[in-house]
Amino acid sequence: MIRIDDFDCFSIVELCEEYSKDEIQEYIKSFKCSLNEEVEKFLLNNSIEFANKHQAITYLIFDYHKTVTAYFTLSIKPISINSDRLSLNSLKKILRLSEYNDENTISTAAYLIAQIGKNDKSLINIDIIFEFIDYIVGKIQNSCGGVVEFLESENNEKLINMYKNKGFKTFNIRKSKSGEDRKLIQMYRLI
Ligand SMILES: CC(C)(COP(=O)(O)OP(=O)(O)OC[C@H]1O[C@@H](n2cnc3c(N)ncnc32)[C@H](O)[C@@H]1OP(=O)(O)O)[C@@H](O)C(=O)NCCC(=O)NCCS
Repeated sequence: MIRIDDFDCFSIVELCEEYSKDEIQEYIKSFKCSLNEEVEKFLLNNSIEFANKHQAITYLIFDYHKTVTAYFTLSIKPISINSDRLSLNSLKKILRLSEYNDENTISTAAYLIAQIGKNDKSLINIDIIFEFIDYIVGKIQNSCGGVVEFLESENNEKLINMYKNKGFKTFNIRKSKSGEDRKLIQMYRLI
């Protein structure tokens, strides 16, 4: 458990050691995220299974009333970045853990922030959620290395600006597998 201000954060793996799947579902079923249905559905339908498979680990942030006020999901994935998009210093840092696919594209290992969302009625904000993310990713980084973090933002100016304020830069745009011409803006930052 990690505490920041009045918020407590537990990973689902940690909760599974103490609670049954049904008890955890009880906590997460009150989570509503009307701005992004996928974020709500992932928590309800996939987060426990993905944690059990070690595919992606979800962290629940509880408020003072023991309500799930926000959550985020972390994983690891390879990414390809066009080296032309990187400054010389960034390139040097990324190359420590990368290889060139061809002349211009490098493949690197990266931490993925796969989901971020807050409950509709919540008073938490992105800054506090990132304090938890930075703490946890920092711990993993100190245990096994890694210099790149990335996420895939909805194509929404407010969200993209929020991530830019956290130091993320766009490196690619990809079509979502869920179709309907939905674009995801892939953004990275060095840590
Ligand atoms: C991301 C999030 C945790 C940030 O929380 P926050 O720091 O308190 O910021 P807010 O919720 O006030 O959002 C800031 C602005 O972005 C807008 N916004 C946030 N997520 C949005 C989304 N998915 N679609 C459209 N607009 C969105 C908000 O409506 C708000 O607009 P406003 O300034 O006009 O009121 C929260 O907005 C959230 O849970 N969003 C929905 C889930 C989501 O889309 N996650 C990101 C997936 S890439």
